[in-house]
Amino acid sequence: MVSIQLKYWILLYFSLIIFSACGEKIHREKYYGVVPKPNVMELGQGGFDLSRRTKFCLLDKDTLLRYSIENFNVIIEKSIGEKLDIIVSDKPVNRSINISLDSELEEEAYRLQIRSNRIDIVGGTAKGVFYALQTMQQLVPSSVLEGKQTDRIELPEIKITDKPYFKYRGAMLDVGRYYFEPEEIKQFIDVLAMHKMNVFHWHLTEDYGWRIEIKKYPNLTKVGSIREKSPYRMERGKPIQFDNKPHGGFYTQEEIRDIVKYAAERFITIIPEIELPGHATAALASYPHLGCKGKDYKVETIWRVTDEAFCVGRESTFEFLDNVFTEVVDLFPSEYVHIGGDECRKVRWKECPMCQKRIKDEHLKDEIELQSYFVKRVEKILQSKGKKIIGWDEILEGGVSPTATVMSWRGVEGGIEAAKKGNHVIMAPSSYCYLDFYQSKDMLKEPLSIGGYLPIDSVYSFNPLEGLTAEESNYIEGVQANIWTAFMDTTEIVYYMTLPRLAAVAEVAWSYRKGETLTYSDFKHRMADFRVLYDIRELPYAKYMFEENDSIKIVVSK
Ligand code: ACM
Ligand code: ZN
Repeated sequence: MVSIQLKYWILLYFSLIIFSACGEKIHREKYYGVVPKPNVMELGQGGFDLSRRTKFCLLDKDTLLRYSIENFNVIIEKSIGEKLDIIVSDKPVNRSINISLDSELEEEAYRLQIRSNRIDIVGGTAKGVFYALQTMQQLVPSSVLEGKQTDRIELPEIKITDKPYFKYRGAMLDVGRYYFEPEEIKQFIDVLAMHKMNVFHWHLTEDYGWRIEIKKYPNLTKVGSIREKSPYRMERGKPIQFDNKPHGGFYTQEEIRDIVKYAAERFITIIPEIELPGHATAALASYPHLGCKGKDYKVETIWRVTDEAFCVGRESTFEFLDNVFTEVVDLFPSEYVHIGGDECRKVRWKECPMCQKRIKDEHLKDEIELQSYFVKRVEKILQSKGKKIIGWDEILEGGVSPTATVMSWRGVEGGIEAAKKGNHVIMAPSSYCYLDFYQSKDMLKEPLSIGGYLPIDSVYSFNPLEGLTAEESNYIEGVQANIWTAFMDTTEIVYYMTLPRLAAVAEVAWSYRKGETLTYSDFKHRMADFRVLYDIRELPYAKYMFEENDSIKIVVSK
C-alpha cells in the first residue's frame, strides 16, 4: 500500500514534469515569431542574458556596420537605459555580440548564433549583419520591446542561417496623389527595413502632382505640385464629391539627398519614378509646350486615366527629359530609374501632326510603336547617364528594348512574357501585390479604396515563379508591393492598408523556396508575435488576420 506521503511525492514529481514541459513550450513559442521566415532556425534549451555589460565586438572594420548596430541599440536603450558599447577586437570576446564578415556568404546572407556565453553574427556584408540584427530584435521578449525596464534581456539559444531568395524586395509609395512629409517618408523607410525589404520605389510624378524639385524647371513644383481639389467620394469610377481645397507639396533636392542617405543607412535603395509618356499632366500644366495640344492643361483632380501625354513629335520633349534626368540621377545613386510607361492613351498622338510626322519619319507602324520609340529614346538618355530603366509592363507593347526591366502589374502575364524574351522582371501584379485594394469584404467598414479585394492570405499565396521554367525564373529579380494613395491622405490610412499585408509580400520575397510551400497558418502564428513591432511604433494595421475584426475607425479626413 502506497502511503499518503509517497502519493504526494509522486503527484508533485509528475506535476513538475508537466509544468516544466509547458514552460518549455511557452519558451519556444515565445521566440517563434521571426518574419520573414529564416531559411534554417534551430532552437536550443538555454539562453543568453543581455545586459548593460554586454558589448558589440567588431571583428571587421567596415564602417557601415555601425548603422546596423545603431538600429538595434535604439531598441535596447529603451529597456536597459543605455546603448551597448562597441569595441573592436581581432578575436571573439565572451559575453559579447561578436560581429564579423565572411566573403564566402552572399551580400545579404547572415548567420546568427546565440549561446549562453556569447552571440556570433556573421554577415556576407554589413547588409547581412543588419538583417541579423533585425532578426535578433524579433527574438527580444515582447515585454522588452514594449519598453519594460529591465537589467537583463533574455535571448533564446538559437542558430539561424538565412538569406533572401529574391534580391529585389520592394514597395512603391505613390506621393503623386497625396504628398507626405519627409519625416513620414523616413518612417515608411523604417517600416520597409523592419520587413527586410531593400527597395523603396518612390512614385514622384503624376497627373495629380509633381513632387520633386528640378532646379532648371521651377514651374514643375511652382505650378505642377498643386492641384485645386481632390475627390473623396467616388461612385462607379466617377467622383461625386470633392474636398474643394488645394493639395500640394514637393521634396527639395536637399530633402531628397537626406532621405536617400537615411534609406542607405538602412540598406534600402530608392528608385525614383518619373512617369512618362502618360500620367504627366502636372508636367504639362507647368510647361504646356511639352504636350501635343500645347496649352490648356491643369493639374488633374480626378483619379482616372487621362488623354494627355508628352508629345513625342517635338525634340523639345526629349531635351526637357534629358535635363530633368540629369538632376534626378545626381540625386539618386540607384542603378535604376523607373520611367513609368503605363496607361498612356494614344488619342493626342493620333491628332498631333508632329507625332504623326515622327511615326512617318521613323517608319513606325502606329501609335503603339510610337510609345516604344519614346521609351527607347528615354532609355538611351538614361543609359548615357549610367542608369538602367524599369517600366510598367506596357513597355512591352510595340517592342521592348532587351535591356529594360519590366515591372509586371496587370497580372503576371507581362512578367512571364518579358522573362521569356530574356528581360529582367519585377513581379508586382495587382492580383497579389496591390495593397490599395480592400482587405475585407465588409467594404463599408473600411477606409474608402479605389476598388479590388485582396485579403492577406491571397497576398501570401503568391508564387512569383509560377508558370516559368527554371531558365526563365532566373530573370525574375523579385517582388514589389504597390501602395497607390487615391484615398490615403494620411499615413494612418497608408499603414492601415499596408500592414500587415506588407509582411506577406516580404515573406514571399525573402522566404520563397522552390518546391516548398510556405504555409499561411505558420505565417499567421509568427505574425502574432511580429505585430508587437507595429504596436511599439504605434503603426495602425488591419487586424483581420488576428481574428480581431476591428477595422480602422476613420474615413478620409476632409
Ligand atoms: C499602375 O497601377 N497603373 C501601374
Ligand atoms: Zn504630339
